[in-house]
Amino acid sequence: MDDRALLKLAIEARKRAYCPYSKFPVGAALLCADGTVVTGANVENASYGLCLCAERVAMFKAVSEGKHGFVKLAVACGADYCRPCGACRQVLFEHAPDLEILMGSPEGSFKRTTVRELLPDAFSF
Ligand code: THU
Repeated sequence: MDDRALLKLAIEARKRAYCPYSKFPVGAALLCADGTVVTGANVENASYGLCLCAERVAMFKAVSEGKHGFVKLAVACGADYCRPCGACRQVLFEHAPDLEILMGSPEGSFKRTTVRELLPDAFSF
């Protein structure tokens, strides 16, 4: 799975976002160590605090399906170089501290980074 193909899956997943409140769809595609890809999109709620970001949806889907070992996560939103929020950084660090991240644009260009770079000196037990 090359980087552009992974980002394309995130851009596709973005179309499945449920975001009637923010109208800001986000998609994510998580490449697992077994070679499979688990996608996610943000899912909002009328009780705003319950909204879940695309990155966490993808990671929670994957973990709950028994996946372990994660290689790369592509994220796509309407703005250029979609940056995972702070809460997502902490969740990603928990399950994949060495995860590579492709911060994508809707057109398919991206910037490359890592969870460690986005969340230096992270909390963990
Ligand atoms: N959102 C994500 O899905 N990922 C992020 O990293 C940032 C924000 C979602 C949450 C909410 O549904 C919408 O974007 C606006 O904040």
